[in-house]
Amino acid sequence: MPRLVWLNGCITPLEEATTSVADHAHLYGDGLFEGIRIYGRKVFKLDEHLDRLYHGASYLGFTMEVGKEQLKGIVLDVCRKADMDDGYIRLNVTRGTGLGLDPRAVKTAPNVMVMVSTLALYQPEMYDRGLDVITTSYRVIQADALDPRLKCIGRYAANIMAKAEANRAGAGEGLMLNAQGNVAECTGDNIFLVKDGVLRTPHPSSGILKGVTRDTVIALAREQGVSVVEDTITRFDVFAADEAFLTGTAAEVIAMVTLDDRPIGTGEPGPMTRRLTELFHAHTATGTPF
Ligand SMILES: Cc1ncc(COP(=O)(O)O)c(C=O)c1O
Repeated sequence: MPRLVWLNGCITPLEEATTSVADHAHLYGDGLFEGIRIYGRKVFKLDEHLDRLYHGASYLGFTMEVGKEQLKGIVLDVCRKADMDDGYIRLNVTRGTGLGLDPRAVKTAPNVMVMVSTLALYQPEMYDRGLDVITTSYRVIQADALDPRLKCIGRYAANIMAKAEANRAGAGEGLMLNAQGNVAECTGDNIFLVKDGVLRTPHPSSGILKGVTRDTVIALAREQGVSVVEDTITRFDVFAADEAFLTGTAAEVIAMVTLDDRPIGTGEPGPMTRRLTELFHAHTATGTPF
């Protein structure tokens, strides 16, 4: 199972792939990324991830030389070559190479990378048991400062610090609030609550990344006739919830069973969480084959 990297047209084993030290994301975090999963030799939600990437590139004013359909073909080709049944794809696009904050200092086309590897975010037993989560002291970047739909490399410093804070507390994840003190998301996952049979999740304006997995779970729940409300959510709502779970490409769907040492509902993964987890796993068969 080779871990491969396609970088600006060249494919190498992951260990041999190198990029310029003057890459604008290396210097300033001026780049975008997507994490995408491979399930059973199919790339899950590839179009949705590419859409988010290209919308971000257009927002940042990157002059993409590789078009969306062409990049889609490249992703599928690297997957074929890596020959992995299940895996994790990391797509990175940076403004290009050049020293100086001024985008005019970048004289190259955007640097584009497709990495095919594996990633396990949480220990397998956590998917049965559920995660303990703490409220971290790190806030998400306000939506009016940097559009949260931008999956920009530079914005992750706070998330990494929040993850380290959760690690120090022995928790599986860290909850990040927004500037108003409302619930936003965890360090690499969106949050959902179940209350009286209704699914509630923070509204995109809360400063959350509008996750592809979040959208998938919302659609699956609605197909089952479950009402889903995108709302302002506080920690009070979390403590009063019957169930809570997190979603993300890397995380998939995972129960959140405590917040700050207080059980949520029964303190175990609840029936709606289990049902949506099952539906999500069944839905992973709908990806793009390679
Ligand atoms: C901060 C943050 N929130 C939420 C998510 C979940 O998004 P998705 O389901 O698109 O992976 C991610 C995933 O990368 C993330 O980094």
